[in-house]
Order: sequence, then structure tokens, then C-alpha cells
Amino acid sequence: MTRIIAVFNQAGGVAKTSVTQNLGYHLAQRKHRVLLIDIDPQASLTTFMGLEPDDLEQSLYDALTGEEPLYIIKGLMRMDLAPTNLKLSAAEMELVNADLREMRLKTAIEPVQDNYDFILIDCPPSLGLLSYISLVAASHVLVPIETEFKAF
Ligand SMILES: Nc1ncnc2c1ncn2[C@@H]1O[C@H](COP(=O)(O)OP(=O)(O)OP(=O)(O)O)[C@@H](O)[C@H]1O
Ligand SMILES: [Mg+2]
Repeated sequence: MTRIIAVFNQAGGVAKTSVTQNLGYHLAQRKHRVLLIDIDPQASLTTFMGLEPDDLEQSLYDALTGEEPLYIIKGLMRMDLAPTNLKLSAAEMELVNADLREMRLKTAIEPVQDNYDFILIDCPPSLGLLSYISLVAASHVLVPIETEFKAF
């Protein structure tokens, strides 16, 4: 069964993106099939994976707002990536009145889910809609914290 892990903490800068990338990398090294999903409009994960967010032909935005198939770039560091860019920041407002909005990511993942052993979702540092739909899509939640008061 595919494990879908939301890497989430409302606090910023606690290494969510670093954990997503490094955990994915080591799972892939162990021959697991890994998909990374960047659902943070900052697009740090997309950048960490060596892509230029502004140059993307498609992005997660299209799957969440236009109900396009999930756009996936294959074979980066032995992983696949659903990349994003700043355009995703508009999705939060566009989805406010959308039907079944909390299901959008879950629905986008479902057709490709069986292709992967692990799907890791890099959440933004907020409790907004993008984090909410990530938690709805996830089977597990991983909460990185820094060992300091605010992150805890
Ligand atoms: N193992 C580590 N040891 C020390 N610093 C680290 C480690 N992993 C990541 N960092 C640093 O911690 C900072 C935050 O990392 P990262 O971008 O992964 O956090 P984040 O929680 O995703 O941030 P944001 O909330 O902005 O999305 C970065 O400067 C990164 O270089
Ligand atoms: Mg991050």
C-alpha cells in the first residue's frame, strides 16, 4: 500500500523541505518508488530539485484548479517530482468556493498512486487551504520541529 506522507508544521524554517527531499532520496536509494509533491508556493523543493520554477510548462496549480492530470517530472535524483511555482499562491483564493475543494489533491494523486511506494508532500508553513488539502490526501503526517520553543 502506498504511504502518502504530509511533511507539515505551521512553523516556518523547521526543515520541512529538507526532510522531504532527503527522506525521499534515501527511500529511493533503497529501491522504493518515490514521488515528491511540492505544494508550497515558495517552490523551495522544486528549486532544491534543480528546476527553475518560473520555467515550468505546467505545475501543481493546473491539477488543483483546472482538474488537469498531475504534472510529474520523472527521474530526478531517482525520484519523481510534481513541481510548483508562485502561481500556486492564487489557488488558495480560487478554491475558496470550489466544489469538493478539500479533495482536490487526493483526487489528483489517485490515478498515479499505485505507481509509488511513498508519496511525500512538502507543505507550506501555514494552516491554510493548501496544508488542509495535503492533510486530507495523506495517510501519515510527519512533523519536523527545531528544538526551540517557537517551532515546538
Ligand atoms: N540537517 C540540517 N542541519 C542544519 N540546517 C539544516 C538542515 N536541514 C536544513 N537546514 C537548514 O534549515 C533551513 C530551513 O530549511 P527548509 O527550507 O527545509 O525549511 P522549511 O521548514 O521547509 O522552510 P519553510 O517553512 O520556509 O518552507 C535552511 O536554511 C536549511 O539549509
Ligand atoms: Mg519548505
